[in-house]
Amino acid sequence: MTTVIKNGTIVTADLTYKADVLIEDGVITEIGPDLKGDEQLDATGCYVMPGGIDPHTHLEMPFMGTYSTDNFESGTRAALSGGTTMVVDFVLPGQGQGFVDAMKAWHNKSTLASCDYSFHMAVTWWGKELFDEMPTVINDHGINTFKHFMAYKGALMVNDDELYASFSRLSELGGIAMVHAENGDVVAELQAKLLAEGNTGPEAHAYSRPPQVEGEATNRAIMIADMAGVPLYVVHTSCEEAHEAIRRAKQQGKRVWGEPLIQHLTLDESEYFNKDWDHAARRVMSPPFRNKQHQDSLWAGLQSGSLSVVATDHCAFTTEQKRTGLGDFTKIPNGTGGLEDRMPMLWTHGVNTGRLTMNEFVAVTSTNIAKILNCYPTKGAVLVGADADLVVWDPEKEKTITAGAQQSAIDYNVFEGKHVKGLPRFTLTRGHVAVHDGEIRTQEGHGKFVKRKGNGTVNKALSSWKELTAPRPVQRSGIPASGV
Ligand code: URP
Ligand code: ZN
Ligand code: ZN
Ligand code: ZN
Repeated sequence: MTTVIKNGTIVTADLTYKADVLIEDGVITEIGPDLKGDEQLDATGCYVMPGGIDPHTHLEMPFMGTYSTDNFESGTRAALSGGTTMVVDFVLPGQGQGFVDAMKAWHNKSTLASCDYSFHMAVTWWGKELFDEMPTVINDHGINTFKHFMAYKGALMVNDDELYASFSRLSELGGIAMVHAENGDVVAELQAKLLAEGNTGPEAHAYSRPPQVEGEATNRAIMIADMAGVPLYVVHTSCEEAHEAIRRAKQQGKRVWGEPLIQHLTLDESEYFNKDWDHAARRVMSPPFRNKQHQDSLWAGLQSGSLSVVATDHCAFTTEQKRTGLGDFTKIPNGTGGLEDRMPMLWTHGVNTGRLTMNEFVAVTSTNIAKILNCYPTKGAVLVGADADLVVWDPEKEKTITAGAQQSAIDYNVFEGKHVKGLPRFTLTRGHVAVHDGEIRTQEGHGKFVKRKGNGTVNKALSSWKELTAPRPVQRSGIPASGV
Protein backbone atom coordinates (compact mmCIF):
# COMPACT_ATOMS: atom_id res chain seq x y z
CA MET A 1 0.00 0.00 0.00
CA THR A 2 1.41 3.39 -1.02
CA THR A 3 0.38 6.83 0.16
CA VAL A 4 0.82 10.03 -1.79
CA ILE A 5 0.67 13.57 -0.42
CA LYS A 6 -0.55 15.71 -3.30
CA ASN A 7 -0.59 19.39 -4.22
CA GLY A 8 1.41 20.64 -1.23
CA THR A 9 4.44 22.86 -0.88
CA ILE A 10 7.41 21.11 0.68
CA VAL A 11 9.14 23.18 3.34
CA THR A 12 12.45 21.96 4.73
CA ALA A 13 15.19 23.67 6.71
CA ASP A 14 16.70 24.97 3.48
CA LEU A 15 14.16 24.69 0.63
CA THR A 16 10.57 25.60 -0.27
CA TYR A 17 9.10 24.05 -3.45
CA LYS A 18 5.98 22.44 -4.86
CA ALA A 19 6.04 18.64 -5.18
CA ASP A 20 4.11 15.49 -4.27
CA VAL A 21 5.54 12.94 -1.84
CA LEU A 22 5.20 9.17 -2.29
CA ILE A 23 5.45 6.87 0.71
CA GLU A 24 5.94 3.12 0.77
CA ASP A 25 6.51 0.93 3.84
CA GLY A 26 6.89 3.96 6.06
CA VAL A 27 9.65 5.54 3.99
CA ILE A 28 9.66 8.36 1.41
CA THR A 29 10.33 6.72 -1.96
CA GLU A 30 9.75 9.55 -4.41
CA ILE A 31 9.39 13.33 -4.47
CA GLY A 32 8.23 15.07 -7.62
CA PRO A 33 5.29 16.19 -9.77
CA ASP A 34 2.15 14.15 -10.53
CA LEU A 35 2.80 11.15 -8.29
CA LYS A 36 0.14 8.50 -7.70
CA GLY A 37 -0.53 6.22 -4.75
CA ASP A 38 -3.20 3.88 -3.33
CA GLU A 39 -4.14 6.37 -0.62
CA GLN A 40 -4.18 10.07 -1.43
CA LEU A 41 -3.82 12.95 1.03
CA ASP A 42 -4.74 16.36 -0.30
CA ALA A 43 -2.26 19.03 0.78
CA THR A 44 -3.71 21.90 -1.26
CA GLY A 45 -2.84 25.15 0.52
CA CYS A 46 -0.58 23.30 2.97
CA TYR A 47 3.10 22.96 3.75
CA VAL A 48 4.61 19.48 3.87
CA MET A 49 7.31 19.53 6.54
CA PRO A 50 9.41 17.07 8.53
CA GLY A 51 7.40 16.05 11.60
CA GLY A 52 8.45 17.83 14.77
CA ILE A 53 11.04 16.27 17.05
CA ASP A 54 10.69 17.15 20.72
CA PRO A 55 14.05 16.29 22.28
CA HIS A 56 13.00 16.99 25.85
CA THR A 57 10.15 15.08 27.48
CA HIS A 58 9.57 13.41 30.85
CA LEU A 59 6.81 10.84 30.37
CA GLU A 60 5.83 8.94 33.51
CA MET A 61 8.84 10.46 35.24
CA PRO A 62 9.44 9.60 38.90
CA PHE A 63 10.02 13.04 40.42
CA MET A 64 9.45 14.85 43.71
CA GLY A 65 7.59 11.96 45.29
CA THR A 66 5.23 11.26 42.39
CA TYR A 67 5.14 10.38 38.67
CA SER A 68 4.40 12.82 35.86
CA THR A 69 0.91 12.00 34.64
CA ASP A 70 1.37 11.89 30.87
CA ASN A 71 2.93 8.55 29.95
CA PHE A 72 4.17 7.30 26.58
CA GLU A 73 0.59 6.53 25.57
CA SER A 74 -1.05 9.92 26.22
CA GLY A 75 2.19 11.82 25.65
CA THR A 76 2.88 10.52 22.15
CA ARG A 77 -0.78 10.95 21.21
CA ALA A 78 -0.50 14.60 22.27
CA ALA A 79 2.71 14.88 20.28
CA LEU A 80 1.18 13.57 17.05
CA SER A 81 -1.94 15.66 17.50
CA GLY A 82 0.28 18.76 17.43
CA GLY A 83 2.51 17.67 14.53
CA THR A 84 5.38 16.15 16.52
CA THR A 85 6.44 12.71 15.30
CA MET A 86 9.34 11.87 17.61
CA VAL A 87 10.07 12.48 21.29
CA VAL A 88 13.27 11.98 23.25
CA ASP A 89 12.78 11.09 26.91
CA PHE A 90 15.28 10.97 29.78
CA VAL A 91 16.23 7.69 31.47
CA LEU A 92 16.83 8.48 35.14
CA PRO A 93 18.92 5.94 37.07
CA GLY A 94 18.32 5.95 40.85
CA GLN A 95 21.23 6.52 43.23
CA GLY A 96 23.61 3.58 42.77
CA GLN A 97 21.57 2.15 39.88
CA GLY A 98 23.34 1.27 36.61
CA PHE A 99 22.55 2.86 33.25
CA VAL A 100 21.46 -0.38 31.56
CA ASP A 101 19.22 -1.40 34.43
CA ALA A 102 17.46 1.98 34.40
CA MET A 103 17.14 1.87 30.63
CA LYS A 104 15.22 -1.42 30.81
CA ALA A 105 12.56 0.30 32.92
CA TRP A 106 12.21 3.03 30.27
CA HIS A 107 11.88 0.46 27.49
CA ASN A 108 9.10 -1.17 29.51
CA LYS A 109 7.28 2.14 29.93
CA SER A 110 7.42 3.02 26.25
CA THR A 111 5.80 -0.02 24.64
CA LEU A 112 2.52 1.85 23.98
CA ALA A 113 4.13 4.82 22.23
CA SER A 114 2.31 5.78 19.05
CA CYS A 115 5.20 7.74 17.54
CA ASP A 116 8.91 6.99 17.39
CA TYR A 117 11.02 7.86 20.39
CA SER A 118 14.57 7.82 21.62
CA PHE A 119 16.24 8.21 25.00
CA HIS A 120 18.85 10.42 26.62
CA MET A 121 20.62 8.95 29.66
CA ALA A 122 20.84 10.97 32.89
CA VAL A 123 23.99 10.89 35.00
CA THR A 124 22.52 11.23 38.48
CA TRP A 125 25.58 9.96 40.38
CA TRP A 126 29.09 8.93 39.37
CA GLY A 127 31.29 5.90 39.98
CA LYS A 128 33.32 3.12 38.36
CA GLU A 129 30.22 1.15 37.39
CA LEU A 130 28.90 4.02 35.29
CA PHE A 131 32.34 4.75 33.85
CA ASP A 132 32.50 1.11 32.72
CA GLU A 133 28.92 1.02 31.41
CA MET A 134 29.08 4.18 29.30
CA PRO A 135 30.60 2.48 26.20
CA THR A 136 27.85 -0.14 26.04
CA VAL A 137 25.13 2.50 26.43
CA ILE A 138 26.54 4.38 23.44
CA ASN A 139 27.73 1.52 21.24
CA ASP A 140 25.16 -1.21 21.93
CA HIS A 141 22.07 0.61 23.17
CA GLY A 142 21.95 3.60 20.82
CA ILE A 143 22.03 6.41 23.39
CA ASN A 144 24.70 9.04 22.71
CA THR A 145 23.44 11.92 24.88
CA PHE A 146 23.92 12.14 28.66
CA LYS A 147 22.19 14.73 30.81
CA HIS A 148 23.58 16.13 34.05
CA PHE A 149 21.46 18.02 36.56
CA MET A 150 23.34 20.91 38.17
CA ALA A 151 20.22 21.57 40.29
CA TYR A 152 17.82 19.54 42.50
CA LYS A 153 20.32 19.29 45.37
CA GLY A 154 19.97 16.09 47.39
CA ALA A 155 18.13 14.38 44.53
CA LEU A 156 19.35 14.45 40.91
CA MET A 157 22.17 17.00 41.27
CA VAL A 158 25.81 16.17 40.50
CA ASN A 159 28.83 18.25 41.52
CA ASP A 160 31.64 19.72 39.41
CA ASP A 161 34.07 16.82 39.99
CA GLU A 162 31.39 14.40 38.78
CA LEU A 163 30.57 16.65 35.83
CA TYR A 164 34.22 16.77 34.79
CA ALA A 165 34.68 13.01 35.16
CA SER A 166 31.54 12.20 33.17
CA PHE A 167 32.22 14.85 30.49
CA SER A 168 35.78 13.52 30.06
CA ARG A 169 34.52 9.98 29.61
CA LEU A 170 31.97 11.18 27.05
CA SER A 171 34.70 13.00 25.19
CA GLU A 172 36.69 9.74 24.89
CA LEU A 173 33.64 7.79 23.75
CA GLY A 174 32.12 10.24 21.26
CA GLY A 175 29.05 11.14 23.32
CA ILE A 176 27.36 14.50 23.89
CA ALA A 177 27.00 16.07 27.35
CA MET A 178 23.74 17.77 28.28
CA VAL A 179 23.08 19.96 31.31
CA HIS A 180 20.18 21.28 33.30
CA ALA A 181 22.08 24.44 34.20
CA GLU A 182 21.08 26.02 37.51
CA ASN A 183 23.34 26.46 40.53
CA GLY A 184 21.64 23.97 42.86
CA ASP A 185 23.58 25.05 45.96
CA VAL A 186 22.45 28.67 45.64
CA VAL A 187 18.87 27.62 44.80
CA ALA A 188 18.77 25.54 48.02
CA GLU A 189 20.00 28.54 50.06
CA LEU A 190 17.47 30.89 48.46
CA GLN A 191 14.63 28.41 49.00
CA ALA A 192 15.44 28.12 52.73
CA LYS A 193 15.69 31.90 53.11
CA LEU A 194 12.41 32.56 51.32
CA LEU A 195 10.56 29.94 53.37
CA ALA A 196 12.02 31.35 56.61
CA GLU A 197 10.74 34.80 55.60
CA GLY A 198 7.23 33.45 55.05
CA ASN A 199 7.36 33.30 51.26
CA THR A 200 5.64 29.96 50.82
CA GLY A 201 3.59 30.49 47.63
CA PRO A 202 4.41 29.53 44.03
CA GLU A 203 5.76 33.04 43.30
CA ALA A 204 8.67 32.21 45.63
CA HIS A 205 9.64 29.42 43.22
CA ALA A 206 10.56 32.11 40.69
CA TYR A 207 12.38 34.22 43.31
CA SER A 208 14.45 31.18 44.32
CA ARG A 209 15.73 30.64 40.77
CA PRO A 210 16.82 34.03 39.42
CA PRO A 211 18.55 34.32 36.03
CA GLN A 212 21.93 34.53 37.77
CA VAL A 213 21.75 30.89 38.99
CA GLU A 214 21.13 29.81 35.41
CA GLY A 215 23.72 32.10 33.84
CA GLU A 216 26.41 31.01 36.29
CA ALA A 217 25.73 27.29 35.84
CA THR A 218 25.52 27.58 32.06
CA ASN A 219 28.88 29.31 31.90
CA ARG A 220 30.41 26.79 34.33
CA ALA A 221 29.14 23.83 32.29
CA ILE A 222 30.49 25.40 29.09
CA MET A 223 33.95 25.87 30.61
CA ILE A 224 34.03 22.36 32.11
CA ALA A 225 32.90 20.88 28.78
CA ASP A 226 35.58 22.82 26.97
CA MET A 227 38.27 21.53 29.34
CA ALA A 228 36.95 17.98 28.95
CA GLY A 229 36.71 18.37 25.17
CA VAL A 230 33.05 17.34 24.82
CA PRO A 231 30.20 18.98 22.85
CA LEU A 232 27.58 20.45 25.17
CA TYR A 233 23.80 20.78 24.82
CA VAL A 234 22.15 23.11 27.34
CA VAL A 235 18.50 22.20 27.94
CA HIS A 236 15.73 24.72 28.70
CA THR A 237 17.73 27.92 28.22
CA SER A 238 15.35 30.51 29.63
CA CYS A 239 17.20 33.80 30.14
CA GLU A 240 19.62 36.29 28.63
CA GLU A 241 22.40 35.40 31.11
CA ALA A 242 22.44 31.76 29.96
CA HIS A 243 21.94 32.73 26.32
CA GLU A 244 24.83 35.21 26.61
CA ALA A 245 27.15 32.46 27.85
CA ILE A 246 26.09 30.18 24.97
CA ARG A 247 26.38 32.98 22.40
CA ARG A 248 29.87 33.88 23.60
CA ALA A 249 30.98 30.25 23.58
CA LYS A 250 29.70 29.70 20.05
CA GLN A 251 31.50 32.83 18.85
CA GLN A 252 34.69 31.39 20.35
CA GLY A 253 34.23 28.21 18.34
CA LYS A 254 33.10 26.05 21.26
CA ARG A 255 30.63 23.30 20.36
CA VAL A 256 27.60 24.34 22.40
CA TRP A 257 23.88 24.33 21.63
CA GLY A 258 21.03 26.03 23.52
CA GLU A 259 17.42 24.86 23.72
CA PRO A 260 14.68 27.37 24.64
CA LEU A 261 11.23 25.96 25.45
CA ILE A 262 7.99 27.11 23.86
CA GLN A 263 6.78 27.96 27.37
CA HIS A 264 9.66 30.38 28.02
CA LEU A 265 9.19 31.97 24.59
CA THR A 266 5.49 32.68 25.07
CA LEU A 267 4.61 32.76 28.80
CA ASP A 268 6.10 35.17 31.32
CA GLU A 269 6.72 35.50 35.04
CA SER A 270 3.45 37.38 35.69
CA GLU A 271 1.79 33.92 35.73
CA TYR A 272 3.30 33.35 39.20
CA PHE A 273 1.62 36.46 40.62
CA ASN A 274 -1.86 35.25 39.71
CA LYS A 275 -4.12 35.39 42.79
CA ASP A 276 -5.29 31.85 42.09
CA TRP A 277 -2.80 29.46 43.80
CA ASP A 278 -3.61 26.64 41.38
CA HIS A 279 -3.02 28.86 38.35
CA ALA A 280 0.44 29.83 39.59
CA ALA A 281 1.43 26.36 40.85
CA ARG A 282 0.46 24.72 37.57
CA ARG A 283 3.14 26.87 35.93
CA VAL A 284 5.90 26.00 38.39
CA MET A 285 8.80 24.59 36.45
CA SER A 286 12.56 24.98 36.50
CA PRO A 287 13.87 27.33 35.27
CA PRO A 288 10.79 29.51 35.90
CA PHE A 289 9.12 31.75 33.33
CA ARG A 290 10.99 35.07 32.87
CA ASN A 291 10.15 38.64 31.85
CA LYS A 292 9.71 40.08 28.33
CA GLN A 293 13.37 41.11 27.98
CA HIS A 294 14.47 37.51 28.46
CA GLN A 295 11.84 36.36 25.97
CA ASP A 296 13.12 38.85 23.39
CA SER A 297 16.63 37.48 23.93
CA LEU A 298 15.45 33.91 23.27
CA TRP A 299 13.63 34.90 20.07
CA ALA A 300 16.72 36.77 18.89
CA GLY A 301 18.79 33.66 19.60
CA LEU A 302 16.56 31.58 17.34
CA GLN A 303 16.76 34.24 14.64
CA SER A 304 20.53 34.56 14.78
CA GLY A 305 21.30 30.89 15.29
CA SER A 306 22.87 31.25 18.73
CA LEU A 307 20.00 29.07 20.02
CA SER A 308 19.27 25.94 18.03
CA VAL A 309 16.19 23.99 19.12
CA VAL A 310 12.71 24.64 20.56
CA ALA A 311 11.53 21.91 22.95
CA THR A 312 8.88 21.51 25.66
CA ASP A 313 10.39 19.68 28.65
CA HIS A 314 6.90 18.12 28.76
CA CYS A 315 6.50 16.97 32.37
CA ALA A 316 2.82 17.15 33.20
CA PHE A 317 1.40 17.02 36.74
CA THR A 318 -2.28 17.29 37.65
CA THR A 319 -3.63 20.07 39.85
CA GLU A 320 -3.95 17.52 42.65
CA GLN A 321 -0.27 16.63 42.32
CA LYS A 322 0.68 20.31 42.30
CA ARG A 323 -1.26 20.79 45.56
CA THR A 324 1.34 18.68 47.39
CA GLY A 325 3.14 22.01 47.63
CA LEU A 326 0.37 23.98 49.37
CA GLY A 327 2.13 25.91 52.15
CA ASP A 328 5.63 25.08 50.83
CA PHE A 329 6.53 26.01 47.26
CA THR A 330 9.59 23.71 47.29
CA LYS A 331 7.22 20.72 47.33
CA ILE A 332 5.27 21.70 44.20
CA PRO A 333 6.25 19.11 41.54
CA ASN A 334 8.29 20.99 38.93
CA GLY A 335 7.11 20.69 35.36
CA THR A 336 4.64 21.82 32.70
CA GLY A 337 3.12 20.33 29.57
CA GLY A 338 3.40 21.54 25.98
CA LEU A 339 3.85 18.58 23.61
CA GLU A 340 0.62 19.18 21.70
CA ASP A 341 1.07 22.95 21.56
CA ARG A 342 4.75 23.48 20.73
CA MET A 343 4.39 23.52 16.93
CA PRO A 344 1.16 25.60 16.68
CA MET A 345 2.37 28.07 19.33
CA LEU A 346 5.77 28.50 17.66
CA TRP A 347 4.16 28.91 14.24
CA THR A 348 1.68 31.45 15.58
CA HIS A 349 4.18 33.49 17.58
CA GLY A 350 7.18 32.88 15.34
CA VAL A 351 6.20 32.49 11.68
CA ASN A 352 2.95 34.47 11.73
CA THR A 353 4.66 37.44 13.40
CA GLY A 354 7.67 37.39 11.06
CA ARG A 355 10.14 36.50 13.77
CA LEU A 356 10.96 33.19 12.04
CA THR A 357 10.89 32.06 8.43
CA MET A 358 9.11 28.80 7.67
CA ASN A 359 12.49 27.20 6.98
CA GLU A 360 13.81 28.40 10.36
CA PHE A 361 10.68 26.92 11.94
CA VAL A 362 11.54 23.52 10.45
CA ALA A 363 15.17 23.89 11.51
CA VAL A 364 14.40 24.62 15.18
CA THR A 365 11.52 22.15 15.55
CA SER A 366 13.08 19.21 13.72
CA THR A 367 16.16 19.32 11.49
CA ASN A 368 18.70 20.91 13.84
CA ILE A 369 18.02 18.45 16.63
CA ALA A 370 18.04 15.48 14.23
CA LYS A 371 21.56 16.52 13.22
CA ILE A 372 22.72 17.12 16.80
CA LEU A 373 21.35 13.76 17.96
CA ASN A 374 22.85 11.97 14.96
CA CYS A 375 19.61 10.63 13.47
CA TYR A 376 19.50 12.89 10.38
CA PRO A 377 18.34 12.35 7.64
CA THR A 378 16.33 9.30 8.76
CA LYS A 379 14.52 11.88 10.89
CA GLY A 380 14.17 15.64 10.38
CA ALA A 381 14.16 15.55 6.56
CA VAL A 382 11.88 15.35 3.53
CA LEU A 383 14.17 13.27 1.33
CA VAL A 384 13.96 9.98 -0.54
CA GLY A 385 14.98 7.29 1.96
CA ALA A 386 13.96 9.28 5.03
CA ASP A 387 11.28 7.97 7.39
CA ALA A 388 7.85 9.29 6.40
CA ASP A 389 7.51 11.27 9.65
CA LEU A 390 5.71 14.22 8.15
CA VAL A 391 3.30 16.95 9.02
CA VAL A 392 0.99 18.49 6.45
CA TRP A 393 0.62 21.94 7.92
CA ASP A 394 -2.46 24.04 7.24
CA PRO A 395 -1.54 27.71 7.83
CA GLU A 396 -5.21 28.73 7.80
CA LYS A 397 -6.47 26.27 10.39
CA GLU A 398 -7.20 27.92 13.76
CA LYS A 399 -8.20 26.96 17.27
CA THR A 400 -8.24 28.21 20.82
CA ILE A 401 -6.21 25.96 23.10
CA THR A 402 -8.24 24.44 25.89
CA ALA A 403 -7.66 21.57 28.31
CA GLY A 404 -11.08 20.13 27.49
CA ALA A 405 -9.99 19.28 23.95
CA GLN A 406 -6.40 18.19 24.58
CA GLN A 407 -4.84 14.72 24.36
CA SER A 408 -2.74 15.20 27.50
CA ALA A 409 -4.14 13.38 30.53
CA ILE A 410 -3.95 16.35 32.92
CA ASP A 411 -6.82 18.64 33.89
CA TYR A 412 -5.47 21.99 32.65
CA ASN A 413 -3.24 23.51 29.99
CA VAL A 414 -0.71 26.28 30.63
CA PHE A 415 -1.66 27.78 27.23
CA GLU A 416 -5.41 27.75 28.02
CA GLY A 417 -7.23 30.40 25.97
CA LYS A 418 -4.36 31.08 23.57
CA HIS A 419 -5.49 31.36 19.97
CA VAL A 420 -3.30 29.60 17.42
CA LYS A 421 -3.34 29.80 13.62
CA GLY A 422 -1.41 27.05 11.84
CA LEU A 423 -2.19 23.42 12.69
CA PRO A 424 -1.66 19.94 11.23
CA ARG A 425 -4.10 18.73 8.59
CA PHE A 426 -2.33 15.37 8.58
CA THR A 427 0.44 13.96 10.77
CA LEU A 428 2.22 10.84 9.53
CA THR A 429 4.39 8.60 11.66
CA ARG A 430 6.46 6.32 9.41
CA GLY A 431 3.70 6.54 6.84
CA HIS A 432 0.81 5.85 9.20
CA VAL A 433 -1.69 8.73 9.13
CA ALA A 434 -2.10 9.38 12.86
CA VAL A 435 -3.94 12.68 12.49
CA HIS A 436 -6.43 12.89 9.64
CA ASP A 437 -8.15 16.25 9.26
CA GLY A 438 -8.91 16.69 12.94
CA GLU A 439 -9.47 12.99 13.60
CA ILE A 440 -7.00 11.14 15.83
CA ARG A 441 -6.07 7.75 14.38
CA THR A 442 -3.01 6.97 16.48
CA GLN A 443 -2.02 3.33 17.04
CA GLU A 444 -0.65 2.38 20.44
CA GLY A 445 2.60 0.49 20.02
CA HIS A 446 3.25 1.82 16.50
CA GLY A 447 6.21 3.86 17.82
CA LYS A 448 9.67 2.36 17.61
CA PHE A 449 12.84 3.10 19.55
CA VAL A 450 15.32 5.14 17.51
CA LYS A 451 18.93 4.09 18.10
CA ARG A 452 21.50 6.82 17.66
CA LYS A 453 25.18 6.18 17.13
CA GLY A 454 27.97 8.01 18.94
CA ASN A 455 30.85 9.91 17.41
CA GLY A 456 28.84 12.16 15.11
CA THR A 457 30.42 14.80 12.89
CA VAL A 458 30.82 17.42 15.62
CA ASN A 459 32.47 14.88 17.96
CA LYS A 460 34.89 13.93 15.21
CA ALA A 461 35.77 17.53 14.40
CA LEU A 462 36.17 18.46 18.05
CA SER A 463 38.35 15.46 18.89
CA SER A 464 40.60 16.16 15.86
CA TRP A 465 41.03 19.74 17.03
CA LYS A 466 41.64 18.75 20.66
CA GLU A 467 44.22 16.19 19.54
CA LEU A 468 45.98 18.76 17.36
CA THR A 469 46.12 21.31 20.18
CA ALA A 470 46.76 18.91 23.10
CA PRO A 471 49.69 19.61 25.44
CA ARG A 472 52.85 17.83 24.29
CA PRO A 473 56.49 18.19 25.34
CA VAL A 474 58.70 20.51 23.27
CA GLN A 475 61.45 18.51 21.51
CA ARG A 476 64.72 20.26 22.37
CA SER A 477 68.11 19.64 20.74
CA GLY A 478 70.43 20.41 23.62
CA ILE A 479 69.88 20.17 27.36
CA PRO A 480 71.80 22.87 29.27
CA ALA A 481 74.25 21.56 31.85
CA SER A 482 73.00 21.99 35.38
CA GLY A 483 74.50 24.44 37.85
CA VAL A 484 75.97 26.74 35.18
O1 URP B 1 10.65 21.76 36.01
C1 URP B 1 11.09 20.94 35.23
N1 URP B 1 11.82 21.38 34.23
N2 URP B 1 10.79 19.63 35.39
C2 URP B 1 11.27 18.55 34.65
C3 URP B 1 12.63 18.12 35.07
C4 URP B 1 13.68 19.01 34.50
O2 URP B 1 14.31 19.75 35.24
O3 URP B 1 13.91 19.02 33.29
ZN1 ZN C 1 15.78 20.23 33.69
ZN1 ZN D 1 13.51 18.30 31.66
ZN1 ZN E 1 1.33 1.85 11.61
